[in-house]
Amino acid sequence: MHLQIVGGNRLVGTVTAAGSKNAALALMAAAMLPAGETVLRGVPRIADIEVFRALMASVGAPSEWTDRHTLVISGGGLLDQTPPVELARKMRASYYLMGPLLGRLGRARVGLPGGCTIGARPVDLHLKAFAALGARTGIEAGEAWAEARRLRGADMTLVGPFGPSVGATINALLAACVTPGVSRIHGAAQEPEVVEVTAFLNRAGARIAGAGTGLIEVEGVRRLQAVAYDVPGDRIEAATYLLAGAATGGDVQVEGVAPWALDGLPRLLTQMGCACATEAGAVRVVAPPRLQAVEAVTGPFPALATDIQPVLVAALCRAQGGSLVEERVFDARFGYTSELERLGAQIRIVAGATAVITGVARLGGAPMSGTDLRATAALVVGALTAEGESQVEGLAFLDRGYEGLERKFASLGADIRRVGAPLRTTAVKQEAVR
Ligand code: UD1
Repeated sequence: MHLQIVGGNRLVGTVTAAGSKNAALALMAAAMLPAGETVLRGVPRIADIEVFRALMASVGAPSEWTDRHTLVISGGGLLDQTPPVELARKMRASYYLMGPLLGRLGRARVGLPGGCTIGARPVDLHLKAFAALGARTGIEAGEAWAEARRLRGADMTLVGPFGPSVGATINALLAACVTPGVSRIHGAAQEPEVVEVTAFLNRAGARIAGAGTGLIEVEGVRRLQAVAYDVPGDRIEAATYLLAGAATGGDVQVEGVAPWALDGLPRLLTQMGCACATEAGAVRVVAPPRLQAVEAVTGPFPALATDIQPVLVAALCRAQGGSLVEERVFDARFGYTSELERLGAQIRIVAGATAVITGVARLGGAPMSGTDLRATAALVVGALTAEGESQVEGLAFLDRGYEGLERKFASLGADIRRVGAPLRTTAVKQEAVR
């Protein structure tokens, strides 16, 4: 299976963002804390959610779809069990099982997570949080474990070499909110997903203050009640459609996403020569025929999200002038740029951390193969701006995180469709003649 894209169409119209993948995964984990039935509305229908449902079911928290995007999760029967390693390895977010299991059962053991190949993805900060709460922790035979007879609130600092960790901050919250005593998370991540999980937990009866700042204070409570909650719109998906609109000289509005969650993207789009308007729950970009080159640096929120970086680089390939995009969160996130070069893009990676993009007037279609979720989205955006036909492989990655990507692009006027036959031979031949 691959996507067949005839690029060059100006994208025009309105799309609605699906529920946020990363927020939904964290909220699902949080739903393991109350003993009753949690209702999550607006959960995206993507592969990562299905893998996480299977992981949760394997530790006694099954869930059911009651309509297309509503998930009902039962947290009543958590089990002291290790989820199947092959499932845990399928995704990064499998670490989110640890916080609730440790918080409620005093024991957690989960296969070391997998996920996108974008650089080192250690779990030391997660284990540091659990250890601060009084757990013994370790990594053994490919599994991370934490265990405690009694947890108690504590101060902890969760900053790693690349800054705060979203996952470790959320995992610390999940365990600490049901741990007696007061915990303080210094160096907390400030991403919108942390704010969402806190809002959910507080609605369920937790006592957490300071989410969205670098210091979060948690007063542990004995138990949480099940509640209903709406998953926010996906800021990374929204950024993908906005940047694709910008790169094609288009006029695209994305609804269902809070503009504040989009980091500095509206400002960046303005620097790129676009008119960018935000209102409650919607962002619209109107782009000139060719974008202006920009300099951008990814970082922890409120800096530009690292997950936007590949799509931004793709959008800048046809800009006027030279752009610089520096990656400061993951240490190997430029593996996809050689695929964009098949379109005729000129990208040089300096010191492994900065993409130097020399804008070219014209890109031409080519076969490309994605290596991770956002990288594959970047190849799609590149193909949409290239004249002629491209094929993008790597749909298993795309389907992990985007619901109805080609349907949404087609509704904006893109010539894009999913077709059956594998393409490897074409891509390899092409490479052989380069
Ligand atoms: C989450 C998102 C991912 C996003 C990332 C940064 C999910 C499922 N994934 O990933 O899409 O790109 O936030 O916004 O929500 N680190 C350590 N030790 C740790 C944990 C992380 O050193 O124990 C490092 C990482 O290697 C990385 C940096 O901290 O360099 C930030 O990673 P982190 O925020 O933890 O990313 P994730 O939560 O895994």
